[in-house]
Amino acid sequence: MNGTLTPGMNDNLHQLRCFGCGARISGSSAKPDFRCVECGDLFEVEYPGWAQRQSHDRPNAGALKWLWRERRCSSEALDHSGVWRFRELLPILDSFGNAVTLREGNTPLYALPRAAAALGIDQLFAKHQGMNPTGSFKDTGMTSALSVARERGFQWVACASTGNTSAAMAAYAARAGLRSLVLIPEGKIAWGKLSQAMDYGALTCQLKTDFDGCMRVLTEIVREAPIYLLNSVNPYRLEGQKTPAIEIAEAFDWNVPDHLIVPGGNLGNSSALGKGFREMRELGLISRMPRISVIQAEGANPLVRSFATCHGSEIQPMEAHTRATAIRIGSPASWRKAARVVQDTDGWVLDVTEAEIAIAKAELGAEGLGCEPASAVTLAGLKKLRAQGSVASGETVVLVLTGHTLKDADYTIEFHRGTLLRKEESAGLEEQITHLRREARSVEATPAAVLAALKESTQ
Ligand code: F0G
Repeated sequence: MNGTLTPGMNDNLHQLRCFGCGARISGSSAKPDFRCVECGDLFEVEYPGWAQRQSHDRPNAGALKWLWRERRCSSEALDHSGVWRFRELLPILDSFGNAVTLREGNTPLYALPRAAAALGIDQLFAKHQGMNPTGSFKDTGMTSALSVARERGFQWVACASTGNTSAAMAAYAARAGLRSLVLIPEGKIAWGKLSQAMDYGALTCQLKTDFDGCMRVLTEIVREAPIYLLNSVNPYRLEGQKTPAIEIAEAFDWNVPDHLIVPGGNLGNSSALGKGFREMRELGLISRMPRISVIQAEGANPLVRSFATCHGSEIQPMEAHTRATAIRIGSPASWRKAARVVQDTDGWVLDVTEAEIAIAKAELGAEGLGCEPASAVTLAGLKKLRAQGSVASGETVVLVLTGHTLKDADYTIEFHRGTLLRKEESAGLEEQITHLRREARSVEATPAAVLAALKESTQ
């Protein structure tokens, strides 16, 4: 069925193009650290056949939309993946039979009626990437890059991580029968994530440094040992991570929302989503790009500083601090790609405080969704953008929630117990915080005591 619609779909059609100097190389000739030998920048996957309108390799927009919808009813395992369902837009494998999948993607797009009403916006949605198999958006990029590792015959894969990449990598490696090495900053990742790496059988090394330090160590290791690097410097990660953009476009019947708001850490995700929308527009699947904004935590905001000083043309690494440990990153690898996405789409880059993150997270919880702290920066950022008049009431806005609420239960419990934030951090916001807090209380084991608690809370 597929072959006639998309000729050549099982061919490996890609090459790598340096984002800095434009040098082009074949996929298999990239260095183990995925840096360009000419200029040291990162690569991007490109598909030369798409550039020519008459090319057989150029996918046909109308046929693709039909095919992707048909696959929802397919019984083939690959079609059940919300990444490989769109495989014509990521022809990176010699054989799709090498794909390692856990049925990632196909994540829900939820309406957020309460937050929308509070903000005076008509259409507000959350694309919940925390609803992936290992509980974060990393699964969509791990299925693509780890499949490349398997196809190229690697025995070991590795990543430095603030927790979610390592959880995803460990799971996909285990499914593929590969060994995985995880480098994490000691004491600075959420327990839920650490437990996943252990559960899925990774060799987990906790280093006495931060994420940026782990990344530096790993970059040296992969230059010496035959280990495949699975951080988002690996361009194949971004190929999977661009597919939520396709899901969003499909969910809006190929009329894209006005504005997409994404958390920023190492800046791979914003880069990938921007690439997804850009390619869809080039192929005629959509007619315009959404505005893409990136939100960082105030204590880990190198991109915000970069835009404030030189509109994203340079970046100064910084020592990062935030309780949103997933985005505690001071030297983001993909900053140049993300800066381009923001510039090209006329997006915003801004930061939010620890208290703003905690409040936004509790509000998303109160809508019955929940997410991890790093994801909540999106709602906190939207509130700021709305307050400064940068978002109109008629706009359709999508928040990208990147991780599941159970990833960092300690954070949630501390918030509701009132022990998360220091006094000076919550100054001026005490009323909002008190209104959102739901402490678990100790109640006597009698119906009368529980009924009394019920009465008290309905008053
Ligand atoms: N949200 C969550 C839940 C994350 O885990 C991350 C990154 C981000 C947002 C930021 O995305 O790095 O693409 O800008 N976590 C990485 C990790 C760094 O190791 O799990 P980004």
